[in-house]
Formats: sequence, structure tokens, C-alpha cells
Amino acid sequence: MNKQMKPTQENNELVDMFSRTISYLRLSLTDRCNLRCVYCMPEDGEEGGLKILQHSDLLSYEELLRVIKVVVDMGMNKLRLTGGEPLVRRGVMDFIAALSKVKGLEEIRLTTNGVLLQEKAAGLFDAGIRKLNISLDTMRPERFKEITGADLFEQVWQGIETAVELGFEIKLNVVAMKGINDDEFVDFARLALEKPYQVRFIEFMPVGKNSTWDKRYYIPSTELKEMIGKVGTLEALSGCRMDGPAKVYSLTAADGSKGRIGFISPISHHFCDTCNRLRLTSAGTLRACLLHDHEADLKALLRSGGSDKEIRALIKQTILDKPKGHTLAEDLANCEGQMSRIGG
Ligand code: GTP
Ligand code: 5AD
Ligand code: SF4
Repeated sequence: MNKQMKPTQENNELVDMFSRTISYLRLSLTDRCNLRCVYCMPEDGEEGGLKILQHSDLLSYEELLRVIKVVVDMGMNKLRLTGGEPLVRRGVMDFIAALSKVKGLEEIRLTTNGVLLQEKAAGLFDAGIRKLNISLDTMRPERFKEITGADLFEQVWQGIETAVELGFEIKLNVVAMKGINDDEFVDFARLALEKPYQVRFIEFMPVGKNSTWDKRYYIPSTELKEMIGKVGTLEALSGCRMDGPAKVYSLTAADGSKGRIGFISPISHHFCDTCNRLRLTSAGTLRACLLHDHEADLKALLRSGGSDKEIRALIKQTILDKPKGHTLAEDLANCEGQMSRIGG
């Protein structure tokens, strides 16, 4: 059910200073990952600037469930699990089963790199998850290894096929990088014609102080659209409120085959004025914007005996402090936060 959530007496705590209703929580379950994508976790170890959290730094599942119940009670109805790679956290399947019993939580979605999908897809389906966003930047095994550091293309591909057979709705996230995977965009568009996947091209964002981002890699969505336009006709589809920043198009090829393509353009056409997200990072902090480093220490409040009322007040304050938007187009270096800790 995709009801438009209106700011009413009950849920006006979710309305920010710019009249946006914050109805969607992104929860990073862990900053750990079984891949090392060049744009996300390029270097290991403290020397590389990548600090991995200790288990005690993460909120426990009990703490997370408590926070989620408060958030749902405030009127939020959509939750996305992210990471790092959410499926590497021990006990995640039981946690998802518990989440699916939270009354009022209409949607639980998951963003994954697909490495563990073959093994876990059926369990995820049983727990009530129906929508998966899967990162896949290349369909060439050799290149997959170069981008992610692991020779696991076949495993991921099999995982995607397993998931689709089980009935999941699938979006494939392709981070667009000039000189790295731009020679495959047309193949990805064809894949969207052949398979029931929505293929989404994402503008590469500079996130984190060790980001490998460079303007040489950046491809704006307008350019991507021109490339995809060679495969068929793109026609804009109207968005669904539950969906996020992607502008979705139908793609129709000359032979009549159809598919869906999305473009996520945080740099060239930012979507901050319609942003409905709040993030809970794997370090237990509330973050109102992916690209602004201000965070509120929810973990400290939880661990010092904070009441549900105080948790609610902190969430409300974070929403009120949510910035109007990011300034990536003018100022590329305003975010030091680590993608894998924040959850994208
Ligand atoms: P759905 O709309 O629910 O399918 O989710 P989504 O597209 O927001 O989630 P996903 O985790 O697949 O993220 C896709 C891309 O969008 C990633 O590169 C995210 O970093 C980016 N993204 C998601 N939310 C935001 C946001 O609020 N701001 C910015 N700048 N990027 C975002
Ligand atoms: N720019 C754009 N997208 C990114 N992702 C990770 N890092 C970046 C970045 N710097 C994507 C991943 C994943 C999603 C959560 O975020 O590919 O699909
Ligand atoms: Fe892991 Fe996803 Fe980051 Fe790649 S983008 S290193 S898969 S968290």
C-alpha cells in the first residue's frame, strides 16, 4: 500500500523545517563488508584511513528493535537495511524476522552486494522482504574482481537469478564511472530489456575523506541518458512515493521489448527538496543527510538509560536539524563520513 503520508496531528514530528515528511529510515547494520569496492572501501586498515567498528560499537539487535519501534510509533513506515554488507552481520536473519513483526512497518527493503544472496534469499523471502537493491557495476568477471577485489561475479549473478526466481523485485545499482565501466552501460540497458530488473545508473559521489572520486570518473545522468537512448526510447514514468531518488524511465527497443531504467543524479540534479530519509549509522548515530557530517549520538543516549520519550525527542531534533540539501555541485569536499558506516 502506498499511501501518501500527510503531516497530521499524530505524525507532525516527522516534518522538518522545509516541510519534508521524513518517513523512511535507512539503517546501516554493520560497516563490515565481504567486498572492497574501489569507490567505497578502497583501503583496509587504519593506515588506509578505514576504521572498522568493534562489535560493541554497533547497536545490538535489541537496541535496534527498540529504536525502530519508537520510529514506527512516530509514523515512519519504511525501513531499508544497508551496510557495509548487511548480510554479513551474525544473526541478521533472526533480526529481520523480528522486524517483520513490528506493527506499522509497511516495508522492509534491503541493499546488498549479492555475495550471500544464493544462501540467504529464501530466508529473506520467508521473513517478508520482497524488494532488493543489488549493487552490480559490471557483468565481466575479470572487471568485477578489479572493482570489488573479489572473484565473485558468478556467485553474485547466481544470487540475483535465485532471488528473481523466488519472486523478489530487483533493482540493480550501477555506479557510473567513466573509463571504468562506461563501455557496459548499453549492455546493462539490454539486460533491463531481457530480465525483470530495474537497472539504475548512479552518479558517482565523493563521499568520505579517502574517496577515490575524481571528476575524470564523473558522468552526469544527461550523458548516461544519451548513451541508453541508443538502445531504445526512454519515457519518464511517474514516481511512487515509497521510492527514493531514482528517476525511472521505461525503455522500449525497436523490437518492442521493454524494460525499466533508473537514473540517480545526486550531483547533476539533486533531489534534496523531496528527501524523506533519516539514517541510523552502524556506529549508532542519527544522521539527517548522507552528505552532511552532523550526527546525533543515539547510542550514548540508549546506553545511559535514555527513555523512549528521550529517544523520540532526539529523533525529532535530528529531523528538525536536517539541512536543506547538499552543495556537492559547488563544493565537492564537504563530507568526510564513510559510506560503509553511513549505509549510502
Ligand atoms: P529505494 O528508492 O527504496 O529503492 O532506495 P534507494 O535507491 O534510495 O536505495 P539504495 O540503497 O539502492 O541507494 C541507491 C543510491 O542512491 C546509492 O548510491 C545511495 O548512496 C544513493 N542515495 C540514497 N539515498 C540518498 C540520499 O538521500 N541522498 C543522496 N545524495 N544519495 C542517496
Ligand atoms: N557514489 C555513488 N554510489 C555509491 N555507492 C557506494 N558508494 C557510492 C558512491 N561514492 C552505492 C553502492 C550501493 C549503494 C548503497 O550505494 O553501489 O549500491
Ligand atoms: Fe561493500 Fe557495498 Fe561498499 Fe561495495 S559498495 S564495498 S559492496 S558496502
